[in-house]
Amino acid sequence: MKKILITGGAGYIGSHTAVELVKAGLQPVIIDDLSNSNRQVLERLKELTGQDIPFFEGDCGDQALLNQIFGLHRISGIIHFAAYKAVGESTENPLKYYQNNVGSLMTILSFMKEKGIKDLVFSSSCTVYGQPDVLPVTESTPRKDAESPYGNTKKICEDILVDMVKSEAGLRVISLRYFNPVGAHSSAKIGELPLGTPNNLVPFVTQTAAGIREKLTVFGGDYDTPDGTCIRDYIHVVDLADAHLRAIEYLGEQEMNFYDVFNVGTGTGNSVLEVIQSFEKVSGQKLNYEIGPRRPGDVIQVWADTQKINKVLGWYPKLSLDESMRDSWNWQLAIGDK
Ligand code: NAD
Ligand code: WQD
Repeated sequence: MKKILITGGAGYIGSHTAVELVKAGLQPVIIDDLSNSNRQVLERLKELTGQDIPFFEGDCGDQALLNQIFGLHRISGIIHFAAYKAVGESTENPLKYYQNNVGSLMTILSFMKEKGIKDLVFSSSCTVYGQPDVLPVTESTPRKDAESPYGNTKKICEDILVDMVKSEAGLRVISLRYFNPVGAHSSAKIGELPLGTPNNLVPFVTQTAAGIREKLTVFGGDYDTPDGTCIRDYIHVVDLADAHLRAIEYLGEQEMNFYDVFNVGTGTGNSVLEVIQSFEKVSGQKLNYEIGPRRPGDVIQVWADTQKINKVLGWYPKLSLDESMRDSWNWQLAIGDK
């Protein structure tokens, strides 16, 4: 059975990807330092997959630990999720972000070189497009100067990957540029676990409905968009997880020294108010919200052109915004006030 190392596999997107890999007959091996996740996720993965997924607690920037894992498991590919992702914190503490996000990728690459591992799927982000001039964004839409050190780590990592593949190290690499991941597994056994006050919209919505937060502030109602609020492309995390499976399978069919990049979104933009309406409809909850001031640095609107991933990887999203909101809400109900 093909073994795939999932760095950050106890996290939000990584845990859902582990489930999809098992369903497809691949063997995930997880390394996670639990800096933004917990051990309970491993129990949940066992319940969901019926498998004890090998788990190593530690830093994926620790090559000795990676070597130890390789000694036990002949890894044939890596999906590298592990990173810090809080945009605001990255502005306060850039070094923490460059060290972890860029540093861990460099260690992973040298580990791959040493062990002859060829295939890598990297978690990039639509943040590399900033506020695009033309919508929807295709993979050839120019990247903008990053708004934050976090965003810059994604650009730098993409550039490192391009250079590594050019250097004929015998690699095959895909960067997936995620739009806005939302939702949770339909079983409500795994989902997003924000530490402290959530920065992202959907956890804030569900926590407000659950009474953990008093009120949601919609950041700006006077943008030049149809209803005045910002627009994003919200992608269900299970669909996003499936894109990783397609990517790793596709890499296995390519010649060496291969690099490509794909947008992963639905191809549809939804406003903040549309997200709230969808949530209220599927949850039956009335959300306490008010329109407040704009959030500095917010992109006004962005959504993906997904034709490339549709055609090349044969990947299509299956779940709607309503299904995302339903699953996010069921997950919130399952975790209670955590
Ligand atoms: P997450 O925080 O839930 O998962 C990341 C996991 O990596 C966590 O479990 C954390 O404990 C672990 N981790 C962090 N640094 C580590 C290290 N050095 N060694 C081992 N484990 C480490 O985040 P997520 O939402 O699942 O995001 C996964 C990836 O996708 C990240 O690279 C993130 O930047 C990227 N991404 C996320 C979003 C989003 O909105 N969620 C959007 C675009 C891109
Ligand atoms: C979505 C929309 C807010 C909270 C961030 C990162 C980006 C990427 C995805 C990783 C926006 C509005 C939010 C609230 C609100 N992550 N909002 N009230 O801004 O697309 O991007 O996550 O790569 O790098 O910056 O996502 O969930 O923060 O916001 O009105 O309390 O919800 O203004 O329009 P965003 P988000």
